[in-house]
Amino acid sequence: MDIILLGPPGAGKGTQAQRLVAEHAMRQLSTGDMLRAAVKAGTPTGLEAKAVMDRGELVSDAIVSALIDAELLAMGPETGAIFDGYPRTADQAAALDGILARHGRQLDHVIELEVDEDALVERITSRVTCENCGHIYSVPVNPPSSAGPVACEVCGSTEYKRRPDDNAETVRTRLGIYRADTAPILPHYEARGIVSRVDGMAAIEDVARAIDVILGLGHS
Ligand code: AP5
Ligand code: MG
Repeated sequence: MDIILLGPPGAGKGTQAQRLVAEHAMRQLSTGDMLRAAVKAGTPTGLEAKAVMDRGELVSDAIVSALIDAELLAMGPETGAIFDGYPRTADQAAALDGILARHGRQLDHVIELEVDEDALVERITSRVTCENCGHIYSVPVNPPSSAGPVACEVCGSTEYKRRPDDNAETVRTRLGIYRADTAPILPHYEARGIVSRVDGMAAIEDVARAIDVILGLGHS
């Protein structure tokens, strides 16, 4: 089963993708995570992407589609893909159709996480991720470090980091781009009858349950 998680910055795409990976053995394909890994490794893609990401603008369609293509090549057909943060332009949506067809795969669901934009700046400026495994936390909801270092519930590390693009100004740029370039790809999938909407303002566990119902998966 291949799915797209769609929603603005801070909607909870990464949180729900990580949960689906842990509970249902799917594979998260996050172009944001791939680009951040490229930046960290200092690859040519990373060097090109860094300034664009720090401004909250979009990296070129060709770069992100090539990253997705390469990841799918390395994946067996039995493993379901969760596209997280991709596609986010009409050109990327068209590219994904071609990539999936070449790999003999097809999209089963596009799940839009609907959120109140006013809550997103707060969510994003509160986000920390585990330095070692990348697990996502929220400082007010699940404080990893309020009374000294608390171990990551996944890997036990006590090191956490923030993303350089997680500041109020960049979030507003990212939200504007989501509205202008990404939300308009929804009709591409609505025409196929595969779009579902989930209330992304609900508690993480309730969002998870709603997604599992859509996917026909048992919820643990
Ligand atoms: P990317 O990494 O994809 O960032 P994004 O789309 O802006 O989304 P986020 O990762 O910020 O939010 P999320 O929805 O994953 O939320 P999360 O689960 O972490 O992209 C970064 C940059 O890379 C882009 O700006 C661009 O430059 C580039 N890029 C990436 N893909 C690209 C592409 N395809 N094309 C071109 N450029 C691309 O949750 C956020 C916080 O909220 C966390 O603290 C979490 O704990 C909390 N939270 C989650 N759910 C809930 C809930 N239900 N209730 C309360 N808190 C919650
Ligand atoms: Mg994310």
